[in-house]
Amino acid sequence: MERGVTPLPEKRRRRRGLALLVFAVLLLVVIVAVVVGVTVRRNAHPLKPTFIARCEAFKGYDCAKIWGVFEQAYVGRDPCEVPVEAYDPLIAAVPFKPACNRLMFWSKTKDVVHDFTEKRDCFVTVEETLLGSVLDGLTWCGKKGSRETFTTDCPGWSDCVNNTVRSFWNRVSAAFADDACGDVSAMLNGSIATPFHPASVFASIEVKRFHFPKVKSLKVVLVTQKNSVTNCTNASLKDLQKELDQRITYNCKEVTEARLQECSSHPETPCGSCW
Ligand SMILES: *[C@@H]1O[C@H](CO)[C@@H](O)[C@H](O)[C@H]1NC(C)=O
Ligand SMILES: *[C@@H]1O[C@H](CO)[C@@H](O)[C@H](O)[C@H]1NC(C)=O
Ligand SMILES: *[C@@H]1O[C@H](CO)[C@@H](O)[C@H](O)[C@H]1NC(C)=O
Ligand SMILES: *[C@@H]1O[C@H](CO)[C@@H](O)[C@H](O)[C@H]1NC(C)=O
Repeated sequence: MERGVTPLPEKRRRRRGLALLVFAVLLLVVIVAVVVGVTVRRNAHPLKPTFIARCEAFKGYDCAKIWGVFEQAYVGRDPCEVPVEAYDPLIAAVPFKPACNRLMFWSKTKDVVHDFTEKRDCFVTVEETLLGSVLDGLTWCGKKGSRETFTTDCPGWSDCVNNTVRSFWNRVSAAFADDACGDVSAMLNGSIATPFHPASVFASIEVKRFHFPKVKSLKVVLVTQKNSVTNCTNASLKDLQKELDQRITYNCKEVTEARLQECSSHPETPCGSCW
């Protein structure tokens, strides 16, 4: 009975040795996997898979080629020395589809405007075009003497004028505004003192590119909340009106955030009747 369950001492020693060896090999495999994993993660371009996946949601584009053109704008450059023109080839590679009467601009209303445009098939923001969507919410930059794309330690929006990310948005916003035609809309924020701020992308880049007769009208939707500080009579909106070609019809409408949410959740109401 005892003999059946207890192995010979010599056999037991050999078995223990084998177990130790297996354990050591497993440990080594785990260590190698962790080291390789960390190295790969650091060297790979975490931006590329996101860019490609988002791009592939748009049918009929060569996304690998678009990535290649995009990379040329900033790879190997100081991230504070990427001027807007660096993205010209990218803009040329992916022209915007004409979308008369559907373009929606925004300033300081990002969440509300996208909640609205996603649920209702009425308007298109730059973030819903191919180039806007592939990079929305992302950060990237290159480094002098390197072929890599980095997504950390990149300069922020106001750290330097010609930074990788800011120049991209300025360039793509300009191209989007160049495309504006017919009736154009803009969602501005009525909860801030200056809804049309001169430093905003909308004021400094987009509005300057609305030309009559291609653009016929601009409708400002001023999103208000209970304690909103501004209304359509605010002086900054008068500045906006002055900035426009006087033949472009301007109007401004105050719309509560609650009204917009109600409109978003009722897709059957006609697009024009939300404001
Ligand atoms: C930014 O780039 C532009 C070219 O687009 C250049 O004229 C300008 O001097 C640059 N500004 C700075 C601060 O480097
Ligand atoms: C307007 O700006 C304020 C302050 O930044 C923000 O809290 C609010 O959500 C914005 N309103 C909209 C509609 O985005
Ligand atoms: C708009 O706001 C101003 C104060 O900034 C106020 O005097 C005026 O009555 C408001 N107009 C409307 C129509 O609410
Ligand atoms: C309206 O706009 C001007 C800037 O043009 C700003 O200084 C002012 O504070 C705004 N008015 C209100 C009542 O918020």
